[in-house]
Amino acid sequence: MKVAIFIFSGTGNTHFIGRKLQDEFRANNIFCDLFTVEKNHKDNQIINNYDVIGLGYPIYGSDVPVLIHNWIDGLETHSQKRAFVFCTQMMYSGDGAAYGGRLLEKRGFDIRQQAHFNMPNNITDYIILRPFNKHDLIKMEKRKSKQANRFVQKIILNKRCRKGSNPISLCLGLLQRIPYQKMEMKWISNSIKIEENCILCRKCIDICPTDNFRVKDGKLVTNNSCIACYRCINHCPVNALHSSKKSLVKNPYKGPVKNFNIKDVMEDYLTTLE
Ligand SMILES: Cc1cc2nc3c(=O)[nH]c(=O)nc-3n(C[C@H](O)[C@H](O)[C@H](O)COP(=O)(O)O)c2cc1C
Repeated sequence: MKVAIFIFSGTGNTHFIGRKLQDEFRANNIFCDLFTVEKNHKDNQIINNYDVIGLGYPIYGSDVPVLIHNWIDGLETHSQKRAFVFCTQMMYSGDGAAYGGRLLEKRGFDIRQQAHFNMPNNITDYIILRPFNKHDLIKMEKRKSKQANRFVQKIILNKRCRKGSNPISLCLGLLQRIPYQKMEMKWISNSIKIEENCILCRKCIDICPTDNFRVKDGKLVTNNSCIACYRCINHCPVNALHSSKKSLVKNPYKGPVKNFNIKDVMEDYLTTLE
């Protein structure tokens, strides 16, 4: 069995789970490659070369990120191709993984497994929670390894487990998704605020998945293409970026492991044959 997992990860949580799943497959001697949808590869061709496809994304208001919507829109029909979906979320999304599953089903995929992985919050200007410390991260690592192990075993045995597919989850998902999608159209694409303390280090230009930043007349400006992934907000070295009118970022989320390198989420992880 050959598995290809496609992910988008704004701040590292989905990447962390994607890598865990990849490790689990490899531990079971299953060939597994991880691709980011941020890179423009010929994904329809890649999909044809694998037996099972995985899709992973962070939940935004019970919705899938715009980049994932666009990626699915660009897919051809892959009739009866086996697939699984997982999402990462701070707390709850109702039908977060099932929603992505339904979108993939429209492209012919046969969805057998869906999972929700609860991970740390990455909205650090609106929602003020206690920041994660070293001990929380170690505990989380163990818990998520177990959950990833269970999920991969279900995929290997091809057991059906479609988290979020029941009518109650669907209704709760819709309750969040409909207002979020309305807000997304009106507000999110031009939501990033740039404070005066910006030092023009260009890190946001380097890491933004939608090229939302450029320098104009010696100042950082946006291109109104923000998808609210919170990558720039959490990784600005001087906390000059935020999306809220009032609150600035005090405790940015630096990723699910100690010394996490945000640029890792922009890379593919391919199996090298020995
Ligand atoms: C714009 C936005 C909306 C979010 N909405 C939800 C939500 O509805 N429910 C939830 O549990 N988490 C929500 N979250 C939290 C993220 O889904 C969560 O932290 C996720 O693991 C981030 O993944 P990433 O690091 O791969 O980007 C939201 C985060 C953002 C940035």
